[in-house]
Amino acid sequence: MGVLIAPSLLSADFAALGKDIAAVERGGADLLHVDVMDGHFVPNLSIGPPVVRAIHRVATIPLDVHLMLDNPDDYLTAFIDAGASRITVHVEVLPHLHRTLQVLRNAGIKAGVAINPSTPVAALEEIAADVDQVLLMSVNPGFGGQTFIPRSESKIRAVRALLDAAGNDAPVSVDGGVDHSNAHRIVAAGAGILIAGQAIFGSGDAERATRELRAQVDGAHDLRTRVDRPHDLREQVDGEGPAG
Ligand code: DX5
Ligand code: ZN
Repeated sequence: MGVLIAPSLLSADFAALGKDIAAVERGGADLLHVDVMDGHFVPNLSIGPPVVRAIHRVATIPLDVHLMLDNPDDYLTAFIDAGASRITVHVEVLPHLHRTLQVLRNAGIKAGVAINPSTPVAALEEIAADVDQVLLMSVNPGFGGQTFIPRSESKIRAVRALLDAAGNDAPVSVDGGVDHSNAHRIVAAGAGILIAGQAIFGSGDAERATRELRAQVDGAHDLRTRVDRPHDLREQVDGEGPAG
């Protein structure tokens, strides 16, 4: 136990979001990952605050909102008001990242920072003590269903080590190409949150795919917990959103 499963709604049926959300909740999902894209930072468009608000109305687990925007600062309040529990912004677009994280934390939101595959882990050095989660992109952001970039595995270890050195037990969240074949290794490398879109919603049975992913990583995490990670991340989610 301990690793969080966050199905990415990007691969859900947008005409039946409520049904798909209920399915992954029954399967034991811990968070709902919501991808927001602006057509600038990434070459795709997705959804905005009104849809996040609608998701929040039906969800019983917290919303983990991933902002793939050139100007996330302009939209923080809108996504906080829409019901986000966690908001992740990209280091690549924020010269005043420390301030952005403070805004989120002051609003009671868990503050996440994301890095793209080409962004060095060192970009997180100065804020490693100030984040509630680090999202490591294991594909280039913009689309679901891409293949996990193998080098990401060593990056997970490096981010975990950086956070540990900063005395921060915030989880490393891994986003892109996570599936039932590689989840075990991703968790063994130090991931605390697994985001999965296509592996869950492309499977034909989202409830079952969530449950299977959960079972798989629980085994991997049990091994690692005995060695060096004594706490349970799932306890942290209890009591967190979706805020009223
Ligand atoms: C990609 C998004 C991901 C995406 C992952 O830009 O950030 O959350 O939905 O999808 P899969 O798991 O299909 O790679
Ligand atoms: Zn994402």
